[in-house]
Amino acid sequence: MNILPQYSLLEFNTLAVTAVAEYFAQVSSDQDIVECLEFSKKNKLAVKVLGGGSNVVMSKFIPGLVVQFCAQDCNVIKETEQSVVVRVEAGFNWHDFVLYCLSQNWYGIENLAYIPGHVGAAPVQNIGAYGVEVKDCIQAVNGVYLESGQDFTLLAHECDFAYRESCFKQALDGKVLITSVEFLLSKTPDVQVSYAPLNQMSAEKGLPTPGELAQWVVDVRQAKLPDPKVLPNAGSFFKNPVVSIVEFNKLIERFPSMPNYPQKNGVKLPAGWLIDQLGYKGKAFGPVSVHKLQALVLINQGGAGKDVISAANQICKAVQERYGLVLEQEPRIFN
Ligand code: EPU
Repeated sequence: MNILPQYSLLEFNTLAVTAVAEYFAQVSSDQDIVECLEFSKKNKLAVKVLGGGSNVVMSKFIPGLVVQFCAQDCNVIKETEQSVVVRVEAGFNWHDFVLYCLSQNWYGIENLAYIPGHVGAAPVQNIGAYGVEVKDCIQAVNGVYLESGQDFTLLAHECDFAYRESCFKQALDGKVLITSVEFLLSKTPDVQVSYAPLNQMSAEKGLPTPGELAQWVVDVRQAKLPDPKVLPNAGSFFKNPVVSIVEFNKLIERFPSMPNYPQKNGVKLPAGWLIDQLGYKGKAFGPVSVHKLQALVLINQGGAGKDVISAANQICKAVQERYGLVLEQEPRIFN
C-alpha cells in the first residue's frame, strides 16, 4: 500500500469535480488499515473514507488522509435450504454484486441493479430504488472505528436505517470505515413489481424472473438517468421530501396533478416533479445543469466546483418559494 501525497481525486468522483487530497491511500487489508491509522495519528491528519465516489460533492482541496477500501472478497457464511448469508467486502462494485447474486440464484436485491458505487456505501445512505431498500436484506455491517482502530459489528436493527438514512450518516459520520456488509438473501424468487414502471411492464409481459426484473430496472435507469462517464453526475441530488397529511392536503389542493406516495409517517413527494414543474429541466446554472430527462439529477457540464452547491441552493430556494418545502441534498459534501 502507498500513501500518496497531493493526489487528484478527479477520477474518484462521478461528478468529475477537480479535487486534490492532501494524502490518498487505497487499502485492502487489516494491516493497511493499521498503517493508515498510525500514519494519520503521527501526522495529525483526519482520516476521510471514500467509497465509489458516486454520492459526494468534493471540495477543491481535501485536507487529511483520504482512504478508499478496495478489498472485494465475497463469502457465504451461513446457508440453509431457504437462504444464504453472504459477507461481501466493502470494495465490491454494487452492480457486479447484484449480478453475482443472480448468477448464484440468491434473491432480494435485483431491484437495486445498476446503482453506482461500492457495497460499503450501500448501508450508509440505505440505497433504495423501485420499491426496495437495501436495509431489507442487510443482516450486519462490519468495520473499524477510526479513532481507536477497534473492530465493530452492527446488526441491521442497530443501524437506524430510514429513507436514505443510517447511523453512518448521523452518530457515526466520519468515525468509521466499513469493511464488509452481510446480506441475508433468499433462494426463492419474490419479485417486487409494485413500482409504477415495473408494474406496467409486468402487465404487458407477465411476471418477470429476478434476472429479467434486474434487466428491466437497468433499462428504466438507462432511459432516465445519465451515465456519469458521459454526463458527470451524482444521481439524485435531492431527497424526496416527506410531508405531514395536513401539509399534503394543502399542497394537493394547489397542485392536483402532483404524484405522491403515502408513507407510515406522512406522504412522500417526488422532488424531481417539484423541480420539473418550475420549468428547470435542462436549465443551466453556470457549468451545472439540471438533467433533461430527470430533474432530480444535476450534471457537471465541465469545470464545475463550488458551482454545484450554488446551483443546488438556487433550486432549493425556488422550490421553497413555490411550494413552501425545504429540499434536503442527498450527496454528501466531501471536504
Ligand atoms: N418526475 C417528473 N419529472 C422529473 C422527475 C420525476 O415529473 O423530472 C415524476 C415522475 O414522473 C414520477 C415521480 O416524479 O411520477 C417519481 O419519479 P421517478 O420514478 O423517476 O423517481 P424519483 O422519486 O424521482 C427515486 C430515487 C431514485 C430511484 C427512483 C426509482 C430518491 C431521491 N431518488 O427517484 O434514486 O432510482 O426513485 O425508485 O429517492 C438516486 O438515489 O441516485 C436515485 C436515482
